[in-house]
Amino acid sequence: MAQEITLGQLRNWLILYADRIIAEEEQLTRLDTAIGDADHGVNMRRGMEKVRERLLDPENHYADVGTLFRSVAMTLISAVGGAAGPLYGTFFLRAATSPNSGSRVDLSQFTRMLRFGLDGLQQRGKAYVDDKTMVDAIQPAVEAMEAALASQQSWAVALAAAKQAARLGMEHTIEIRANKGRASYLGDRSIGHQDPGATSAYLLFETAVAALSTSAPLKVNGQEPAAASPRSVPTQAGKQKNTD
Ligand SMILES: Nc1ncnc2c1ncn2[C@@H]1O[C@H](COP(=O)(O)OP(=O)(O)OP(=O)(O)O)[C@@H](O)[C@H]1O
Ligand SMILES: [Mg+2]
Repeated sequence: MAQEITLGQLRNWLILYADRIIAEEEQLTRLDTAIGDADHGVNMRRGMEKVRERLLDPENHYADVGTLFRSVAMTLISAVGGAAGPLYGTFFLRAATSPNSGSRVDLSQFTRMLRFGLDGLQQRGKAYVDDKTMVDAIQPAVEAMEAALASQQSWAVALAAAKQAARLGMEHTIEIRANKGRASYLGDRSIGHQDPGATSAYLLFETAVAALSTSAPLKVNGQEPAAASPRSVPTQAGKQKNTD
């Protein structure tokens, strides 16, 4: 039987992602100050704080993977202003509609979830690769997962490939001109700056490696994901910003 990850691991991944976003608020805002309106960090932090709170609430039970993703989507749509909230919300909402086996997903189901999410995001935002948006990180990552799946790789290999592809896509946004959102008003002046949304999207795949690569579930009791997470995000010119 193909190796599966559990609903609990997916939940831990999303908590870990929330921790990373909260830790990187300043950095995401700094990137959005250069080419936007300086609110991506605060938008994402506000949304992911709510997601984290909801996922850690012992009163909340998720019957299946779809319910978990739908809950994240609805929280983001209602709590996050600006472009990114509804776009990430759509990503998770559409991912929730893909076929899964209830409380577990195999690599093929998980990859399809991400593909459904990406397609939904693009239908909503009409952004394509090289428009300098979150799509520049998410699409190559999903394609890397699909390629790994086609060559029968393990979860660990597939996720590592997705993370690397997302990172390269994120870094590539430095070189290109924005065609979507507020950054597009800058025209060529948007060149030379890393896209904030591509950066928050990269973190989704970075945390997936930490939370989902191993069959041993990452422990979460409300504190441990933050402690277990790497504490820096790659920034412009490949520099590392330490957040410790
Ligand atoms: N049409 C789109 N499709 C996909 N991603 C987009 C689109 N428009 C903007 N983005 C992403 O959203 C990020 C900005 O999110 P933010 O939380 O700052 O919302 P915002 O200030 O309302 O956005 P914007 O100013 O880009 O319209 C961008 O860095 C980009 O990655
Ligand atoms: Mg903004």
